[in-house]
Amino acid sequence: MKHDIEKVYFTEEMIQNRVKELGAQLSADYKGKNPLLVGVLKGSFIFLADLARQMDIHCEIEFITVSSYGAGTETSGKVTMTKALGSVVENRHVIIVEDILDTGLTLEFLRNYLLDLKPASLKICTMLDKPSRRRVPIKADYVGYECVDAFYVGYGLDYAGNYRNLPYIGSLKPEIYS
Ligand code: PRP
Repeated sequence: MKHDIEKVYFTEEMIQNRVKELGAQLSADYKGKNPLLVGVLKGSFIFLADLARQMDIHCEIEFITVSSYGAGTETSGKVTMTKALGSVVENRHVIIVEDILDTGLTLEFLRNYLLDLKPASLKICTMLDKPSRRRVPIKADYVGYECVDAFYVGYGLDYAGNYRNLPYIGSLKPEIYS
């Protein structure tokens, strides 16, 4: 699998150090608030698992499933939800946890969906933020790393379902996806 990687952008050590900092920051900001972490499947499952273990306050965890990229490297522009959330959001301090904020279409859709469920507050935490690609005005409140425009895999991010289990984040050799 690692032979398919062209360049490592964020090493395992960089990721773990940054996740530790984010966990400490969230613990301070949400002390006594019992936040609800909402992981966006599938990409966020590794980040959420690491982040939650770096938080030393009570928090609860839910998952929501949306998808827009299918098996390609470009967004279809249409976000579809296959697993929604029930009544657990009302009056809760919700933190959406994402692996990457790219065009922003996914998070715009989710933000609107979750605001309709009347949370006490709603913030966004993303491991990677790629501002150069934004199509809608969405900003994350907590960002692991800002990144340049490349197609990333690893640490939850996939290409056609693979590479999510790489412990670092890198780009693929072009021959893999062309
Ligand atoms: C990826 C990623 C984000 C979204 C970001 O999900 O996990 O949810 O795209 O892109 P956007 O800002 O352009 O909307 P994907 O649709 O690939 O599903 P997955 O999480 O199951 O891999």
